[in-house]
Amino acid sequence: MRLAKLLFAALPFVLFVSSCGEANHEESQEKTDESAAQVSGEDIYKRKCVSCHMGGGDGIANVYPPLAGSDYLANKEGTILQVLAGSSGEIIVNGKKYNNTMPPQQLNDNEVAAVLTYVYNNMGNKGGTVTAEEVKAVRAKQ
Ligand code: HEC
Repeated sequence: MRLAKLLFAALPFVLFVSSCGEANHEESQEKTDESAAQVSGEDIYKRKCVSCHMGGGDGIANVYPPLAGSDYLANKEGTILQVLAGSSGEIIVNGKKYNNTMPPQQLNDNEVAAVLTYVYNNMGNKGGTVTAEEVKAVRAKQ
């Protein structure tokens, strides 16, 4: 009788421990997914963007528009599309006209998300996040 009572009292504890185990499992799974997505936006910027948009994102007057303080970034979908598809022709950034060509960038969804999140949070920009899901959605509409 006493033993049964003891077991009964222990039951919630056992349940609690086993559910914790499950939570841990989920957490570690999330971690693996995250590390797969963890590519360095800064590295991608240096590899793929710096040659035209320059180190501080200042661009080159009349040739390459700036990413530093760019008002174009307010349009997140347009910004994602710019990286996926590139563009050529007239574009106005911070009130200045540019007319040049940016080639489409060969980057996967995670890489586009990482490099744009890096741009949004550096170079005097206002912050913000671009997720791989958002990139995927824009890519699907292309
Ligand atoms: C070969 C040069 C070149 C490379 C490399 C390049 N861009 Fe561009 N980018 C341009 C040009 C030129 C424009 C304007 C295009 C036009 O006139 O239609 C532009 C426009 C943009 C714009 C919109 C305007 C602005 O200044 O905010 C964004 C955002 C952008 N680029 C981001 C990137 C990112 C991020 C990368 C790297 C993944 C990149 N670009 C790589 C040349 C380049």
